Amino acid sequence: MSIIGEPLPRVDGRLKVTGGAKYSAEFAIPNLAYAVLLQSTIPSGRVVSMDTTEAERAPGVLTVMTPANASKLAAPQERISTLQDDRVHYNNQPIGVVVGETLHQAYHAASLVKVNYETSDAKLDFKAGFPSGYPGHHNEDPGDASWGDPDGAFQTAEVKVEQIYTTPIQHHNPMEPHATIAQWDGDHLTLHDATQNISGEKGAMAKMFGIPDGNVHVISLFLGGGFGCKGSVWSHVPLAAMAAKQVNRPVKLVLERPQMFGPVGARPETHQQVSLGATREGKLTAIRHHVYTNTSFLEDYLESSAVPTRRMYACDNVSTMHRLVKLNLGTPTYMRAPGVATGTYALEVAMDELAYKLKMDPLQLRLANYAEVDPQTKHPFTEKHLRECYSQAAEKFGWAKRKHEPRSMPDGRQLIGWGMATETYPGNRLPASAKVSFQPNGRVVVASGTHELGTGMYTVLTQVAADALAISPDLVDARLGDTGLPIAPISAGSMSTASVTPAVQEAAEKARIALINMAVGDAKSPVQRVAIDEVDFKDGKIFRKSAPGSGEKFTELIARNGNQAVEGVASVQPAEDKTKYSSHSFGAVYVEVSVDPQLGSVRVRRVVAVYDVGRIVNHRTARSQFIGGIVWGIGLALHEDTLVDWRNGRIANANLAEYHLPVNLDIPEIDVSALDIPDTKLNPLGARGIGEIGITGTGAAVANAIYHATGKRVRDLPITPDKLLA
Ligand code: MOS
Repeated sequence: MSIIGEPLPRVDGRLKVTGGAKYSAEFAIPNLAYAVLLQSTIPSGRVVSMDTTEAERAPGVLTVMTPANASKLAAPQERISTLQDDRVHYNNQPIGVVVGETLHQAYHAASLVKVNYETSDAKLDFKAGFPSGYPGHHNEDPGDASWGDPDGAFQTAEVKVEQIYTTPIQHHNPMEPHATIAQWDGDHLTLHDATQNISGEKGAMAKMFGIPDGNVHVISLFLGGGFGCKGSVWSHVPLAAMAAKQVNRPVKLVLERPQMFGPVGARPETHQQVSLGATREGKLTAIRHHVYTNTSFLEDYLESSAVPTRRMYACDNVSTMHRLVKLNLGTPTYMRAPGVATGTYALEVAMDELAYKLKMDPLQLRLANYAEVDPQTKHPFTEKHLRECYSQAAEKFGWAKRKHEPRSMPDGRQLIGWGMATETYPGNRLPASAKVSFQPNGRVVVASGTHELGTGMYTVLTQVAADALAISPDLVDARLGDTGLPIAPISAGSMSTASVTPAVQEAAEKARIALINMAVGDAKSPVQRVAIDEVDFKDGKIFRKSAPGSGEKFTELIARNGNQAVEGVASVQPAEDKTKYSSHSFGAVYVEVSVDPQLGSVRVRRVVAVYDVGRIVNHRTARSQFIGGIVWGIGLALHEDTLVDWRNGRIANANLAEYHLPVNLDIPEIDVSALDIPDTKLNPLGARGIGEIGITGTGAAVANAIYHATGKRVRDLPITPDKLLA
């Protein structure tokens, strides 16, 4: 029986609960010095001078790096601040680094630095920038795409919804803040860094410092969450390396929680106009989804909220458009389900509004517009089983008992509401490589330069290698998070399992063949000179297929043949042909809320979701990922909100006390399941990603449930009591 799908407990669970799992800041490097970031206190302008005299005299100070004295990088990156010039583009921007013998000495010295600025007018009015908004793109997705005659079709539609939905700036805030230890040995750089992309960081750092790629070694064995903010190299990484070079010692730079708000990315604000046109029977005839979103003066990052609208529903007349507005804020970046989380919120609330206009059940409206093929490209989906998601989740939830009218299901003093939404996320994969080796000590090592974000990658690698070799997972050791290992892609976009597992399968097969070749060529082997297809390998034993009881352990074979590991290495390319197929995950989420009509407080009482994400490799870790996504969706609807002081671009709630996240008391029983139908057109295992889909429809489902409870439509997230009572 295959171990794929088994709810194997996390193989790194014990290490994590005993403190044995080493996170990037925890490596005890001899002679370590401590760095603290200095940050701007103006949103726009330049640093005229910095008075560092007092700081340099403070006890334990090793250096104070400023734009005036920092070393020049071979190829600085525009999007981050590495003290190469004196420009200030946002409040909280890194403008210096103090290095001390101890962390406290560095902090104290940092407090003594005086900065003289020349300020210039800051752009901090999002809406004022709309007229000069300009197009952008998100990775391969163009910002604008239309088909049919969306304006004409909307004009003549029998039933129309046209509304504006807004979502606030959000900050990622993984439990583990960004942390870097940089250590030079001549012109070789070792980095212990909290990153979702060790290979990308290796290349980026080599380029910045003008050294060969091979001179950079990045290690990242565990992450305490990433969510996209650890997907790229931010200022503190090269700054730690520059400081280490300057003081000629290893340097550690860990961001404080308030420093997580600004210099390391955010989800930008969105202003989304959604226009839906339909027939009286509920057939969509027009969809327009036009988005304004902010970016920074450092780069053009696009939150692609209208992109999911291109795949959700069958419609012949669609217009999707994004316009960027530059603001003097830290640059935005990918944040869990970038674009899709904010975009499905707007589209799926608009669909709910349309359902009410049509006096139609919201689920029936979705079924009436089910997309059998990709609505934009007309390509078939690699696999799509959304109908089963809708119906299974509706059944579990009891959706059939819903009364359609708002405020029609009270429970005592509380108003009860039921809402639903469609969820979606692209199914992508990238090239990846892996190595599988039989060790002389009887262990099997599976290695790939991927990452453990808390998602369960050590466990997935273990399971897939054990499955491919028909060996107990107890005998398998997984290695990842080190650029010395075979190259794997960035762990983002819900792609790691889909990308890395095909390489593991192929490497395991190559290792198995190498072992069998060694056996048939070995004079003392029980399978000596047996035809290769007559030889089998199972439970660590090599044997003749016709005599399964015979044979020997691979350790005995290896011991007679030089006692060296026998290995297989594989590099694999995506199999999916993007010109033939469209690959997406889908799901359906149903939510029950209760709303106190006097207090405006919302409790999420129940969530039921069913997903079509291809084959599930591990039901235990998959469940955690779905639940994690749904919790984010609840936070999107009700809690998360970065409050900017628009006078000066400062973030007023740059801490976890005032930046509200859902806590245990906010989260009810969440019932998640997956159809577990393999998508073998995407990869041999048939697994698509599951890390992000849970956030995508959940925000809308909560918002729709609140409308059903109260009859009040709040289109401006988060839905807080003040807005509900207004
Ligand atoms: Mo994710 S936002 O692709 O780390």
